[in-house]
Amino acid sequence: MEKETFISKEEILQALKENNEKIFERADETRKVFCKDEVHIRGIIAFSNYCCRSCLYCGLRKENKQIFRYRMKPEEIVKVACEIIQNGVKTVVLQSGDDFGFSRKTLVEIINKIKKGNNVAITLSVGEKPFDDYKAFREAGADRFLLKHETSNQSLYGKLHPGQSLKERLKSLEYMKKLGYQIGAGNIIGLPGQSIDDLVNDILFLKEFDVDMAGIGPFIPQKDTPLGNYPAGDLNLTLKFLALGRIVTKNIHLPATTALGTLNPREGQLLGFKAGCNVIMPDFTPEDYRRKYVIYDNKVPVTLKKAKKIIIEAGRKVARDRGDSLKRSDYAKNT
Ligand code: 5AD
Repeated sequence: MEKETFISKEEILQALKENNEKIFERADETRKVFCKDEVHIRGIIAFSNYCCRSCLYCGLRKENKQIFRYRMKPEEIVKVACEIIQNGVKTVVLQSGDDFGFSRKTLVEIINKIKKGNNVAITLSVGEKPFDDYKAFREAGADRFLLKHETSNQSLYGKLHPGQSLKERLKSLEYMKKLGYQIGAGNIIGLPGQSIDDLVNDILFLKEFDVDMAGIGPFIPQKDTPLGNYPAGDLNLTLKFLALGRIVTKNIHLPATTALGTLNPREGQLLGFKAGCNVIMPDFTPEDYRRKYVIYDNKVPVTLKKAKKIIIEAGRKVARDRGDSLKRSDYAKNT
């Protein structure tokens, strides 16, 4: 029989505040029941670091004149996607800043080319777009969309994202759901101005919004941003958040993020796997571009080899299927 895993708002708050190892055991048990031992690998291509937004924490913000901007050519993007597929990885993540330099047509063509003849899932992580774009990308074969909610505190969201609103972002996510995307949200832990209550609400948000996946990582300062002098998010708090995210949502896909690995290069991601994570996202972006994708400082390189090593170290195995959402049975038809 399924173990009772209900946990109240007060218990979540308490668990975030205290240091009780039991939370990790409980998360690991929940992960084992709902996600088994397989870890899903998603190959990332960060194809453009142009961005029209001004998020206070992010190195890609348009005001940052210290980074060299790049756009990969469509042929290059498709070539790297083929490499990912040849390596046996069954999800390609196309990631970029909010870059309107790539037209809808160009992205549609890229999606078409990658999907043609390949049993591969495409995740888009390209920021907020006009609704017609979401529709066109979905029709072209994009399977998933990752649009992190960053923080569920509306007023903090407003302060950190000039010109943007949480409401609008959630409208995008709602529409993507309607279009049949598997949707990913997620938040940053340790943002300046964030409270523990905000984190409790972030966990509840993931549950209530019924996301298929959540990208959760600590805040890491980037020196050329307005928040460059603030301290990084706490490793243990991030791990507790992940564990509670697992316990509360049960079967969402939860990556051991690169930000977690950056906070503690020796064992951050390994600890993530022990705290309920079941996904890892190695970076396939060609080196020359990769080092220019400076969202935050000192980003650790997560290669496919390293990802597999961590999976084995955690006593887990590499999944063979695409790793579609565990929430809606109709996705199972795609695998
Ligand atoms: N620290 C941690 N995560 C960050 N992101 C951007 N800047 C930072 C930072 N300084 C994350 C955000 C965003 C994605 C591009 O990277 O969650 O959605």
